[in-house]
This record gives sequence, structure tokens and C-alpha cells, in this order.
Amino acid sequence: MGYLSGKNILLGVTGGIAAYKSAELVRRLREQGAAVRVVMTAGAAEFITPLTLQALSGHPVATDLLDPAAEAAMGHIELARWADAVLVAPATANFMARRVHGRGDDLLTAVCLASDAPQAVAPAMNRGMWDDPATRQNIATLEGRGIRVFGPAEGGQACGESGPGRLLEPEQLTENLAGLFSNAALTGCRVLVTAGPTREALDPVRYLSNRSSGKMGLAVAAAAAEAGAQVTLVTGPVVLQTPSRVERIDVVTAAEMQQAVLERASAVDIFIAAAAVADYRPQFVAAQKLKKSAEKQVLELIRNPDILATVAALEAAPFTVGFAAETGSVERNARHKLQAKSLDMIAANRVGADLGFDADDNALQVFWEGGSAALEKTRKSRLARQLVALVAERYHHKHNGDKVIKLHAKDPA
Ligand code: CTP
Repeated sequence: MGYLSGKNILLGVTGGIAAYKSAELVRRLREQGAAVRVVMTAGAAEFITPLTLQALSGHPVATDLLDPAAEAAMGHIELARWADAVLVAPATANFMARRVHGRGDDLLTAVCLASDAPQAVAPAMNRGMWDDPATRQNIATLEGRGIRVFGPAEGGQACGESGPGRLLEPEQLTENLAGLFSNAALTGCRVLVTAGPTREALDPVRYLSNRSSGKMGLAVAAAAAEAGAQVTLVTGPVVLQTPSRVERIDVVTAAEMQQAVLERASAVDIFIAAAAVADYRPQFVAAQKLKKSAEKQVLELIRNPDILATVAALEAAPFTVGFAAETGSVERNARHKLQAKSLDMIAANRVGADLGFDADDNALQVFWEGGSAALEKTRKSRLARQLVALVAERYHHKHNGDKVIKLHAKDPA
């Protein structure tokens, strides 16, 4: 699975001869699993056609800030929100100067201004332009604001000169971009995550289950891996791909999930229970397919073990994080579960029309003893990164107290 899997990359293309390489860059980004949307400046469209990049990215290419049709489809604010990262490649000297001055007079600069996602520029220009003091200062200013600068490489240039100013190769840019999503918040930690639903068999063809898609749990596993943790994911049946650098163990029933978790729980530092475990299972599982007969059927159900509570009660319990899906009184119910199950943290969400199960977006209220945080509605991948940053902070706080070192300078999302 690609190392940019599930990531939304907004690629800005500005007007330099290296713009032709953006076609290859779009392909590389998509090969690594990213969804790519391209914004071009007017200058870029003189070097490579929007149609080329539309065909390669699979999305219409936006070029105009004042185009009513484009703004109605996916305007600059939506594009800015959509992006998990913004990469401008090639970035001309002129673009960077405009960026330094906070200009927002074309679509690309407006999107860059509006986005709070990590951003990078890949400069490409003649070596003299690169060496000019104004460019040097602009680069330093952008870096000072946390914008990453990829390259440039040295070598022969389109103008016939040789020196620094070549656009990095698409492969290198793709790798550098993946680095934007990594941080060191959980380096050296072992994290165990449960995800998805469980299925409790009634007979060989029927089961009791729930609507959990596993999206949140897998996003949490991916975010923990990005934070440098060694991650094991125990998941019920889901149709999602395993995030990169995550060990996955597939289970079906709550009992199987419990066994897989308990075999590992004492050896991990953090346990995050995102699975929607079936609370009950049929008392009797028919060996043969049940035949319809009576007008009314009564199913006898028995309680499944509470995996989360069992882990939290272990003598060598890891830092334990639970989830709670609530339809009302979110804080009261979540705080009650935090205490009743002796958890370190609980992430509660309101389940309703477009929130919770199977949705792409979610919002969470996170509680721990003496504190709370509200994580606003956003894509589950981004929400998971925010949650993992919070888990890392509380985990280090628990273990280092006041000596807590904030390893993650900034939430990557
Ligand atoms: N959980 C678990 N094992 C179970 C049931 C739940 O590990 N058998 C975990 C879930 O992964 C989740 C949390 O416990 O982290 C949910 O707790 P629970 O009290 O079951 O929440 P609800 O299902 O919302 O419970 P209730 O119906 O009682 O509100």
C-alpha cells in the first residue's frame, strides 16, 4: 500500500519550464495512494495544459479564483479544507515572493493562505534567480513560517546554464511530501488498536453485527504509525486497506478480538479501543442453517466480555483509551465510562444523521481526569491525527509528569 494512501494532496503548479514535470509528479503521487487535485496559475497553463493534469489527476483543474462555476463546484475555501498537504511544484521565484507578502490575488495563493494543512514549495528557476538576495530572503521567510522547501537540485538547466535551481525529481518530491505527515510524538511506543465491528454467528450463514466501517480505527492506527509508533491493529471484518507500517490481525467475533488483544496488551504502551464490539452474542450457534417455522422467534443472547475494561484492569495495563458513541448527554455518559472502566482517556462522539458510523467525517469530545478537548467535525483521517497527538501528550504527561517534553511541535494536520 502506498505511503500517501488516503491523503488528499493539493498540487499547485506555477509558470516555469519545469511545469512539464508536474504531469509525472501527479502520477507518482497517485501511485502512492494519494488523491490529487491540481491548481494552476495562469503562467503554468502556458507551459502545460490543464487538460493534461485533469486527465492524470482525475479531477478538473482549477485555475481561476473568480470563475463562478469553479467556485460553485469546489471553491478556494473547500479546496483549502480538502487538502491534507499543499505542495507547490514547481514554485517560481515570483510565486514565492507573492507568498511571502501574503498575496491572495489568484486561486493558488488564496488556497495557500486559507489552508491550515502542512505546506511545501519545490523551487525551480535559473541559478542566478535562485542566488539573488531577494529569493534567498524569501526562502528564509517561508521556512521561518514552517513552509518546507524541497530542493532545488543542482545540474544542467533549461536555459543552458548549470547550478542550483532544478526542480527535484517527482520521485524525490513524493518521498519528501510523505515526510510532512510524520512526527516523533510516539517514537519508540508500541500501540495496539482495535477497529471495525465484530460478527456474532447465529448459524453458518447469519450473524449479529453493527454498522461500524472501521474507518476511524484504521485512521487512528495510521496516525499512530505516522507518529512513529510500532502499531498493531486488531480488526473485525472491514473492507479497508491496511495503513502502511501497521501490523494487522483479522478477527471476526468479540471472543477472537479479546484473545488477540489480551495476547498483546501487556506488552504495549498504549491501547486504543476503537472497535464497535458486539455487546452480546447468541447463546446457541446452530450447526445447520436455521429454518423458518414459528411466527415468532426469540433469540437468547449472552454478554460478551468487555475487552476495553479487561485491558484497563490488567496489572500491567497500558495507557488505555476508549471510545463512546452517545446519542445524548455526551459528557456525563463519557465521564461515567471513563471512571467505571478506569480508562486514561475516552473519545466520545454523538451518533446521528451524518456523524459517526460509516461517515467520512466525525467530531469528538475527548475527556480525561481533570481535562477535556473538543475536536471539531472534520475528516476521520485528520481527526485521528489530532486524537493521536492528544493521546501522545497525555501519555507522556502520565509518564513524565511535569518534565513532559512536547515532541510534536505542531499538529501535522
Ligand atoms: N468495548 C470493548 N468490548 C466490548 C464492548 C465495548 O472493548 N465488549 C469498547 C469499545 O471498543 C469502545 C468502548 O468499549 O472503546 C465502548 O464502550 P461501551 O460502554 O460498550 O460503549 P457503548 O457501546 O456506547 O455502550 P452503551 O451501549 O452501554 O452506552
